Amino acid sequence: MALLLLADPNEEAIAAYIGDATLFAAYESGRLVGVVATTFNADQAELKNIAVDESHQGKGIAKELIFKAKSYAKESGALSIKVGTGNSSLSQLALYQKCGFRMQCIEVGYFSGYPEPIFENGIRCLDRVVLCAEL
Ligand code: COA
Repeated sequence: MALLLLADPNEEAIAAYIGDATLFAAYESGRLVGVVATTFNADQAELKNIAVDESHQGKGIAKELIFKAKSYAKESGALSIKVGTGNSSLSQLALYQKCGFRMQCIEVGYFSGYPEPIFENGIRCLDRVVLCAEL
């Protein structure tokens, strides 16, 4: 949960999808350092959460986890995979595009109801950018 909360500070939102999600984890020297959670809806998969322990970031672990989730989704029959991130999540927008996702739509005001306002890169996180990759 500590890792999952790095990606989404809303524990209630995590609890709502985690029971139905497929998780892959990354370990280094037996220690859990990364996690990706994917759900399925008909022929579309959704990357619901990805997080890498701060001390292990920048080593390609997230990219590896995303490619694992994508290949698992394809093997499971999904035709595409989507992911949502905040308008303020600049590194994540870079990461997903480097992993083959393209922007699909913006859900305006998606994060405005979160209990605590979120700021990243000096920008208030209010809107959800949805990106999608064909499998
Ligand atoms: N501009 C351009 N590229 C950037 C970038 C930026 N600002 N920030 C990151 N990247 C690129 C890196 O250069 C790298 O690509 P490259 O291999 O082509 O150089 C890639 O994004 C990052 O890859 P990786 O090392 O696999 O990422 P990571 O293991 O450090 O994990 C997160 C990335 C986002 C999962 C990690 O920072 C994290 O857990 N953050 C907190 C949780 C979170 O925000 N999750 C996503 C919620 S939407």
